[in-house]
Amino acid sequence: MKKPVLLALLCCALPLSAQAQFAKPEDAIKYRQSAFAVMGTHFGRIGAVVKGEVPFNAAAVTANAEIVAALSKLPFDAFGPGTDKGGNTKAKAEIWTEQDKFKKGATDMQEATAKLLVAAKSGNLEEVKKAFGATGQSCKACHDNYRAK
Ligand code: HEC
Repeated sequence: MKKPVLLALLCCALPLSAQAQFAKPEDAIKYRQSAFAVMGTHFGRIGAVVKGEVPFNAAAVTANAEIVAALSKLPFDAFGPGTDKGGNTKAKAEIWTEQDKFKKGATDMQEATAKLLVAAKSGNLEEVKKAFGATGQSCKACHDNYRAK
């Protein structure tokens, strides 16, 4: 009688792992692709300002940068074991054999997006351009190694 209760407590005391959060690998893949897609959309809106296609408005850039910074934290819990295959994933197998390097790529990007937000809040377009370039480099560095074409 007491055992299931104990197991239930044990389960909830442990940190949630990616496997526990997603019922199927396909769900994790869809989740991370969706997070990247939304992040990419808002990053692209800042890119349009940086390229001069859209006039600079610090409040609008800040709103986009807030979304990019927040979403940059989401995809990586969805790269758990067993999610290397399934759906239409473009994730390369190296992600799971070079975990330290992949995780560093994620941290580098998260730091870059945090700086982009600071730059946006400064209201200085030159700062935004610099931080946007650095963030873009962090995206590219990971895609070059870990995303299939
Ligand atoms: C640490 C690695 C890493 C970093 C950093 C990274 N990405 Fe990605 N990204 C991936 C991987 C891996 C995929 C493929 C995911 C899949 O298909 O399962 C991906 C996919 C995408 C996609 C396609 C999503 C879809 O619709 O399937 C977009 C858009 C994207 N990333 C944008 C970005 C942007 C913008 C940045 C930087 C602000 C960024 N990524 C930073 C690894 C990364």
